[in-house]
Amino acid sequence: MMDDGDVAERPRPGPDSPGPASRPGRRVVIVGGGLAGLGAARRLAERGLGPGRVPVRVRVLEARERRGGRVWSRPFGKGLIDMGAQWIHGPSKQNAVFQLASQHHLLDEAAMSEENQAVELNAQLLAMSVCFTSSGKIIDPEVSASVEELFSSLMFKSKEYFQAATEPVRSLGEFLKNEIAQCAEEWKNDAEMCNLKLALLNVEFKIECCICGTHSLDLVALHPFGEYISLPGIDCTFPSGFKSLIDEMTKSLPKDIVSFNMPVKCIHWNGSLKTPEALERAHSVLVECENGEIIPADHVIVTVPLGFLKEHHKTFFDPQLPISKIKSIEKIGFGTSNKIFLEFEEPFWEPQYDLIKLVWEDESPLNERADLQTTWFRKILGFIVLPAARHGHVLLAVLAGQEAIFMEQLSDSEVKDCLTQVIRQFTGNPSLPPPKNILRTKWHSDRFTKGSYSYTEVGSSGDDIDIIAQPLPSEPAKAQPLQVLFAGEATHRTFYSTTHGALESGWREADRLRDYYLHHTSGNPKL
Ligand SMILES: Cc1cc2nc3c(=O)[nH]c(=O)nc-3n(C[C@H](O)[C@H](O)[C@H](O)COP(=O)(O)OP(=O)(O)OC[C@H]3O[C@@H](n4cnc5c(N)ncnc54)[C@H](O)[C@@H]3O)c2cc1C
Ligand SMILES: *[C@@H]1O[C@H](CO)[C@@H](O)[C@H](O)[C@H]1NC(C)=O
Repeated sequence: MMDDGDVAERPRPGPDSPGPASRPGRRVVIVGGGLAGLGAARRLAERGLGPGRVPVRVRVLEARERRGGRVWSRPFGKGLIDMGAQWIHGPSKQNAVFQLASQHHLLDEAAMSEENQAVELNAQLLAMSVCFTSSGKIIDPEVSASVEELFSSLMFKSKEYFQAATEPVRSLGEFLKNEIAQCAEEWKNDAEMCNLKLALLNVEFKIECCICGTHSLDLVALHPFGEYISLPGIDCTFPSGFKSLIDEMTKSLPKDIVSFNMPVKCIHWNGSLKTPEALERAHSVLVECENGEIIPADHVIVTVPLGFLKEHHKTFFDPQLPISKIKSIEKIGFGTSNKIFLEFEEPFWEPQYDLIKLVWEDESPLNERADLQTTWFRKILGFIVLPAARHGHVLLAVLAGQEAIFMEQLSDSEVKDCLTQVIRQFTGNPSLPPPKNILRTKWHSDRFTKGSYSYTEVGSSGDDIDIIAQPLPSEPAKAQPLQVLFAGEATHRTFYSTTHGALESGWREADRLRDYYLHHTSGNPKL
């Protein structure tokens, strides 16, 4: 089945209008309408291609019925909550998302302040947190603060191995546990305090698992860990949801540039699929959609999540990807981090806290945990308190890994009942009313994401990220033009797993195309 590649952009050409092959300009298809895809589309629409500003027709094919991908704001409680990205990590000058959000006046004053942007600390430390224990007590803030400080210094130390010639162990988890075992040795005179500190440290492990989107810190490679760049600035949120950024970005795009409910099935490149149109116009890439439509393009920018690529790369590209790229796609980690939002009639917490940590007194990072089925909820690090003015009485529980995946199969009421029991235990109030509403994410069962975000898993390094980002062919020539480009969070070597990484990666690939026209075509669209 053939199509002129333009159906959603403009009315079908009448009998007198020229066919697609004779129309001037280049056709770029972008697969995925998340931050990377929309970022690339905007840049191409704004700047065109090459020195002669070769006209370019962009079309975004989005599998879902909405844009934004892992940016997804939904109504819950009094306001909007974010199912995916929620914070701008390091909101300061070098952060592309922060810049864009500021330009469009999407942030509140506190987030925009120079002081906020200058803070170099790990933002975790700035949260006002309280630690509830499994025996219904609250931990002395001095003790919990000292443990937080210790953990943050260990994290700082773990990042130093990036520049080092060798590393002591393979994973972040092993490194931290070795250091913690030494501390525990020093604490052993006071067994009770020692156990409490270890239990507190275990919460920090759970938090770090959520940040990395991994099941266990033992899976996170130590050596490349420090290559991820944390920008300065205290993490901030969008008062009207992260989606307000997506909405702004869409406003400046040509209307109807995005086609929804258009999952792509296969990208036929390198002249692998022969159709009349492909023969007429050399080097077309043909994008085959699940609905059977085949859309010709000069260039395709693929922004599907790494989780999708891991599962489908074999059939998603024809011919298959080069072996080196497949290896890197397999090696880079892609875990699951899930959220559970709970709305309460009345708060059971003090309003000054941003974070309620749940400390299971019998846990320690030095011991393994037990059965998924009976203990999945122990992986929840605690509750993030959403600002009441904006949201009402809403808590956000976060958990990562196998437990997060397990939670996806449970029903809302099973999860709600379970968390009600946990809260009753930790507050020591057996009659505390259950939450009145619950909303959960299921990022692992989502077929267009298959997890949350990427990390450098043991056995991989930043080089694998660059290999995933390489275009096809990697060294384009006249006989082998640039055909398939790769963007998305998992293709950004220093900002992977973030929205600013995703946005920058989309810009990068739009610029790669512009550069290509600059060097290979002298602005001649009929090359
Ligand atoms: C729970 C969670 C919390 C997060 N928290 C934060 C945070 O606080 N701060 C932060 O900066 N980042 C956060 N992130 C990460 C951030 O959301 C992502 O890094 C970023 O949004 C990824 O953008 P992307 O364009 O690379 O991918 P996506 O947004 O996933 O876009 C890819 C698009 O491709 C589409 N697609 C997939 N398959 C196909 C197909 N076959 N055909 C057509 N389209 C397809 C998808 O539907 C999707 O719209 C979080 C992510 C999650 C899951
Ligand atoms: C692309 O096509 C060329 C020429 O037909 C062929 O030599 C080459 O092996 C193909 N590349 C891939 C990855 O299939």
